[in-house]
Amino acid sequence: MQISVAPLSVAPLQVTLVVGSNRHGRFGPVVADWLLDRLRDRDDVVPEVVDVADADLPTTFAPTPEATAALASVTPKLATADAFVVLTPEYNHSFPAGLKNLIDWHFTEWQAKPVALVSYGGLAGGLRAAEHLRQVFAELHAVTVRDTVSFHNAGGSFDDEGRLKDSAGPDAAAKTMLDQLVWWGRALREAKERRPYGG
Ligand SMILES: Cc1cc2nc3c(=O)[nH]c(=O)nc-3n(C[C@H](O)[C@H](O)[C@H](O)COP(=O)(O)O)c2cc1C
Repeated sequence: MQISVAPLSVAPLQVTLVVGSNRHGRFGPVVADWLLDRLRDRDDVVPEVVDVADADLPTTFAPTPEATAALASVTPKLATADAFVVLTPEYNHSFPAGLKNLIDWHFTEWQAKPVALVSYGGLAGGLRAAEHLRQVFAELHAVTVRDTVSFHNAGGSFDDEGRLKDSAGPDAAAKTMLDQLVWWGRALREAKERRPYGG
């Protein structure tokens, strides 16, 4: 008896980077640019960006024209993603309200997809925000990958041109995390090609 096995898709994964801060004068874009470079270094992912600051989603859940217009600019970039990298600062021991709002406006877009977490903040490097996000994404049937990248004292870690003062540790951590994201992204894409997710 011959067992036929469908060929595995080798197309690069669509990875959407979600930039989670929307504070006036925010530091987030500096970390986001470093992260985007790490994604662009790889030939197994195609990066896309959703910035909470640009999305400007209302906090009232109602199908208003404003909400519809805001969703039109972000939802397709979440829906077509095979995997996500979520970049979060830490505000009062958790992640920003604007990021939660973007997450809450969506459901199936997150489902059965992997999420890598990158955090920054003060002494704790945003780790509490990252760990809180694991609980949120579990509810959405998403899988967070084990390894993270975190920047404590983020402002002091980058120079005035936005370059890391010491890149060896963060670059290595990003590679480990993204390798895991790609493994999960491929595994889940292949699984969904065989059988729709039944969550
Ligand atoms: C409202 C607020 C609360 C914060 N709370 C924390 C905190 O609990 N722990 C921490 O390490 N840093 C905290 N910080 C520092 C931020 O994580 C840090 O300034 C970071 O750069 C903020 O990201 P952003 O500049 O992209 O908005 C807080 C900052 C703000 C504005």
